[in-house]
Amino acid sequence: MLNWQDLLALDEGKMLWALRDFPEQIERALGLACRVPNSVQGFKNAVVLGMGGSAIAGDLLARFATVPVVTVRDYALPGWVNADTLLVAISYSGETEETLSAFREGLRRTRRAVALTTGGALAALCEEWEIPWVPVPPGFQPRAALAFLLFPLLGCFSRLGHLQGNPFAVAPLLRRLREACLPDHNENAAQTLAQALFQKVPVIYGAGITGPVAYRWKTQINENAKQPAYWAELPELCHNEIVGYELATKVFAQGIVIFLRTSFDHPRVAKRVEILKEVLSSRGLAFFEVWGEGEDALSQALWLLYFGDWVSFYLALLNGVDPTPVRPIQELKRRLKEL
Ligand code: F6R
Repeated sequence: MLNWQDLLALDEGKMLWALRDFPEQIERALGLACRVPNSVQGFKNAVVLGMGGSAIAGDLLARFATVPVVTVRDYALPGWVNADTLLVAISYSGETEETLSAFREGLRRTRRAVALTTGGALAALCEEWEIPWVPVPPGFQPRAALAFLLFPLLGCFSRLGHLQGNPFAVAPLLRRLREACLPDHNENAAQTLAQALFQKVPVIYGAGITGPVAYRWKTQINENAKQPAYWAELPELCHNEIVGYELATKVFAQGIVIFLRTSFDHPRVAKRVEILKEVLSSRGLAFFEVWGEGEDALSQALWLLYFGDWVSFYLALLNGVDPTPVRPIQELKRRLKEL
């Protein structure tokens, strides 16, 4: 019998605490929405600049915003960004060079801008250009601060009438999910799924609103559990990835697919999932389905996201690693600085 309490000793960076407090962080973060002033309103589109754990907030916002929102993970901006664009720079550390570069370029094209950060060079840039910035609490890993990077934006877009879904319904829902995912909870679905993924290569499939959630699962498994994971989106994967399963038994015996499902899936997507399950079975690949809960699409997407965070946490423990450190990212940043 696995003793999860013993395995928790691996969590030296206390990822459990950050994970456990996610619903309360959401509530605090919604309180920060007022730091995005109404003076930014009137924009026709928005561009969110960020990388990694900060950028995912842009992907999620884009799926629920009623104006076009594009996430840019790059040094440069698309040509269409102009004075009608809301520029949102997100960098937990405030030191990410791609984000800083794109933000500098953006400020030459629009003054409708806001940043979310703990400080650093990004905050300094905002002070210099008199741009408002949302102060995010320090002490987290960027990916564990998602509530503070996303919910001020969801709250602001909701206030301005640019959001589908109720961001205020999310925290109470996730509090209930938390009870079922805490380490000492019996019949813990997150622990069970983590055990099923152990020593496998997870491939996470989302569709529409769950596309960025599938990507978050993949990156959380990479960074927390320190192992490979992949993701793709329906219906697109039915036009390419599906062919790659022809030789799966030879080259991808460790593969395991997880379908992220919501009651808002397009009916044709739902049919495609059923066919895909048959294809996977015929190729000897295992799959799981995880259904989101909640009243609206936003709630269901965040339910799935939070559940995935728990799964990646337990998978890290099974892998015998501390979920928190991301040494290869830090090492790469350090080497780049030296150049
Ligand atoms: C680390 C993490 C990374 C960072 C990324 C950008 O937990 O998730 O993906 O988010 O390296 O750094 P920040 O967020 O500081 O701009």
